[in-house]
Amino acid sequence: MRKQNKLLLSILFFNATVLLHCSPSDRRPEGSQRAEMRFDQYYVQGKRLYLTHCANCHGQEGEGLQQLNPPLAQSDYLLSNIEETVCIINKGLEGEIEVNGVKFSQPMPPHTDLRILEIAEIITYITNSWDASSGIFSARRVEQVYNNCK
Ligand code: HEC
Repeated sequence: MRKQNKLLLSILFFNATVLLHCSPSDRRPEGSQRAEMRFDQYYVQGKRLYLTHCANCHGQEGEGLQQLNPPLAQSDYLLSNIEETVCIINKGLEGEIEVNGVKFSQPMPPHTDLRILEIAEIITYITNSWDASSGIFSARRVEQVYNNCK
């Protein structure tokens, strides 16, 4: 056998051994796999909804639009009080706010057509994109805030 072939064979054998020894118990526990799938589902749906309902004003990459619409990417306003975003989406927002040191005062219209789950998916998307990673924002968490919005 040529030297090269021998080397190939031993690499194949090594890989097969490694694969055989990875029994299911070596993988992540069932619970966290399910949580990961749920996160992915929220994130993918959230992105779709974001592009339909929010990107017009806040930009495809959450970059905002000059002095008119504040950014969501790395927004200190958003990331320091994620819960409030439930109310901002559902009720809109008026009055001056400051985002990353810049003042904004155009009103944001309410999005009363978005359901609890959809709001959760959008928030999950915008708080886990553009270098943020806040984890899933569940529909249950939206529900807890939703009815107490002023
Ligand atoms: C018609 C344009 C418009 C649309 C559509 C819109 N927004 Fe806004 N949004 C604004 C403006 C303007 C403000 C600032 C409001 C103020 O100054 O009081 C704002 C503020 C915010 C803030 C708080 C400030 C910040 O930058 O962190 C969040 C969070 C937010 N919007 C999320 C969303 C999400 C999520 C959607 C989609 C469901 C959305 N917005 C759709 C215009 C818009």
